[in-house]
Amino acid sequence: MEARGLGRTLPGEPPVPLVRGVDLEIMPGRFHAVIGPSGCGKSSLLYLLGLLDRPTAGTLTFDGVDTLPLDGDARAQLRLERFGFVFQFHFLLAEFTALENVALPIRRLGRLSGSAATQQAMSMLEAMGLADQAGKTPDRMSGGQRQRVAIARALANDPSLVLGDEPTGNLDSQNSARVVEIFQRLARDQGRAVVCVTHDPEVAAAADVRIHMLDGIIEKID
Ligand SMILES: Nc1ncnc2c1ncn2[C@@H]1O[C@H](COP(=O)(O)OP(=O)(O)O)[C@@H](O)[C@H]1O
Ligand SMILES: [Mg+2]
Repeated sequence: MEARGLGRTLPGEPPVPLVRGVDLEIMPGRFHAVIGPSGCGKSSLLYLLGLLDRPTAGTLTFDGVDTLPLDGDARAQLRLERFGFVFQFHFLLAEFTALENVALPIRRLGRLSGSAATQQAMSMLEAMGLADQAGKTPDRMSGGQRQRVAIARALANDPSLVLGDEPTGNLDSQNSARVVEIFQRLARDQGRAVVCVTHDPEVAAAADVRIHMLDGIIEKID
């Protein structure tokens, strides 16, 4: 994902700039952390990179494809095929089991038959150490388990880009460390591009690249 002069301003009197003049390359095999004070535009930037919001300035290309001309359906299809999202709150469907939750995006993509989709979902849960939780609904799992189901769901269609917005925000330090290890593995062992908004210094320290934001701009990258 490559951003050049990327900006997002909310219309109004006066207009409210959320993100300004962002030049950024998100690379495969790297774990990128986006850090900075509350309200500085981290989530706004992540929503632009994840094609959940549209920029009002600049360019944004994914795998060499200009994303700006894509309509809503094309953007949704690209997200479903290539992106995985993990948020602070797990957003699992309460009435579905872990396995069913993970199988949903696989079924939506429609490339695998019913039983193959279930098998794929099961292997995602296994990779998260949750094989024994597959038949449980979210209310019968711990917070850490629920968040790992959410990660399994994000990975269900084998995304090239994984985006997290404070994915450890509701977790204790042990579960947090587990999620960080998973994110490192997704980048370093599996070659995915990982972008994670965080205010947790331990998550930031574990990343390969730190993107420091302040007042909607990138202050530095280290
Ligand atoms: N839809 C919106 N309407 C009004 N203000 C918004 C909206 N989205 C974000 N903001 C404001 O823009 C700023 C950046 O928000 P955000 O990207 O969520 O910051 P962060 O994730 O770094 O805490 C904040 O001051 C926030 O209140
Ligand atoms: Mg935020």
